[in-house]
Amino acid sequence: MKRIVVISDLQIPYHDRRALKNVVRFIGDFQPDLLIQIGDLNDYETPSRWNLGTKLEYAQRVKSDSEVTKREFFAPVREVYDGLFKVFEGNHDLRPRTYLSDKAPALAEFSDDVHFSKLLDFDGFGVELAEPFMKLGPGTVGIHGHEIKGMSQIAGTTAFNHATKANANVIMGHTHRLGIRRGTTGNATTGFTTRWGFEVGHLMDPSKAQYLGAGAVANWQKGFGLLYVGNQDVSPVEVDVHRDGSFVVEGERYGALRRGASGRFSAA
Ligand SMILES: [Fe+2]
Ligand SMILES: [Fe+2]
Repeated sequence: MKRIVVISDLQIPYHDRRALKNVVRFIGDFQPDLLIQIGDLNDYETPSRWNLGTKLEYAQRVKSDSEVTKREFFAPVREVYDGLFKVFEGNHDLRPRTYLSDKAPALAEFSDDVHFSKLLDFDGFGVELAEPFMKLGPGTVGIHGHEIKGMSQIAGTTAFNHATKANANVIMGHTHRLGIRRGTTGNATTGFTTRWGFEVGHLMDPSKAQYLGAGAVANWQKGFGLLYVGNQDVSPVEVDVHRDGSFVVEGERYGALRRGASGRFSAA
């Protein structure tokens, strides 16, 4: 059996530092056969189309934000895990090269130079770029999620709707929701087929992303996913990451819940 850990939407530098620290410790203990970051690794807010003509467009943060990813994610992972590590390109990750080709067409031939795999030195960290719809096991593919149309507010449903169309199990990020939805087709004579869609949540700290606005609501859940891949089947497992950044896998808690006398979570 192969064990795959799938994490998503860190949106660095707007990541949840405590959750990420716990996830890195878990990766070191678990030693998966494959680690996947399924997109929106970096937020790259500054070259966003939303910031055109604002102060942020001139902030020049692509380099420094990339350094945060190398320092706070790639380097700590590589300290505890030297196995296969693949990263999908999300819609946020591609912002620098989209900006260059759309806003500076005379320099568009250089857009590969600001591909996030270069900005984040994938080669130096032994990280591989994953192809969208990469096969992860029998009847199972991975995508970031921006590749498909239509988005549901109900966790798991966006992935499930695509799974039904594609006749494959689909695991993805992008919605920032954590959930698995299943459906079965067929009949007793010819046999049944069950397909699932799995959205693996996010690992960001929404309070850091000012673009959500003050008091913004976001129907998002922190978490990540595990896939147990057999010869004939894939078993998907959701992992809820709690408000203090802790979570439980196979009965073991990573990160301690801290509560004051009132029962409220206390700050770190
Ligand atoms: Fe995202
Ligand atoms: Fe996304």
